[in-house]
Amino acid sequence: MRTVTTIAAAREWRNGLGGRVGLVPTMGYLHAGHGSLVRRARGECQHVVATVFVNPTQFGAGEDLARYPRDLARDQALLGGAGCDVLFAPRVSEVYPPGFETAVDAGSVSSPLEGERRPGHFRGVATVVLKLFGMLQPQRAYFGRKDAQQLAVIRRMVRDLDVPVEVVGCPTVREADGLAMSSRNAYLDAEERRAAPVLFRALMRAQALWDAGSRDPEGLRQVMRATLAVEPRARVDYVSVADPLTFHELAAPAGSALASLAVFIGKARLIDNVALGEG
Ligand code: PAJ
Repeated sequence: MRTVTTIAAAREWRNGLGGRVGLVPTMGYLHAGHGSLVRRARGECQHVVATVFVNPTQFGAGEDLARYPRDLARDQALLGGAGCDVLFAPRVSEVYPPGFETAVDAGSVSSPLEGERRPGHFRGVATVVLKLFGMLQPQRAYFGRKDAQQLAVIRRMVRDLDVPVEVVGCPTVREADGLAMSSRNAYLDAEERRAAPVLFRALMRAQALWDAGSRDPEGLRQVMRATLAVEPRARVDYVSVADPLTFHELAAPAGSALASLAVFIGKARLIDNVALGEG
């Protein structure tokens, strides 16, 4: 696998390639969840490019930009093993040269939940992803459903701005105890790591209630809140049962829903979700 750090070198690789190019954008400190996206791309595309870029514009003031975990050598080994052809790992100044001003506003889907708690987050995500699409011109791009609202924001942007990229959503990869893999799990100490699967347990209890026929959104939120309340290390940011397309909270029973949550465990803010019904 080759590593390139400049847009010029990435374009040089891209120009003249025949066949389909698959892109896997990441912020690095990779785990098996990222690996699953690369392997999916490898199976569907002639060429696979991954990016490692800790995008400053999607972090709010007081968030974890400065301490976000990084290990490029380890990332290179994981990507090579998963069948990636090229890693694009630019510096901040390469992506945002002096005078950079334009941004993408992904509209109403970016407003609730993560958008409400992290103002400007999805604007930063949509902008950097559109830039990566422009730099690397993939036919397909792979994103995890673990970040369900991010996936919806990118689908919205691609549709609204006629971007010729097929967006592929991929299943959430979990640890054996159900904890969704995340680079931010590295912030957890041993006690916190033992507490962290409470997010998955809460989602599974909502799933079980749904499967038993319960459609009352507040009842589903209640069972998640009650599950989280048992774990003293869990500090709830939000618990949501929302429309899976608009991400607005459901007020009445519906045929499908997205149950999602954001929970602080120690210094880590963890998110997870499960799709209920055919959504
Ligand atoms: P990052 O958090 O590194 O995630 C990169 C991609 O991996 C995202 O599409 C994310 O949904 C996916 N992913 C993370 N954990 C996963 C898991 N356990 N199972 C399956 N997929 C998983 O998301 C970002 O970076 C950034 O916002 C980015 C899109 C790169 C823009 O900066």
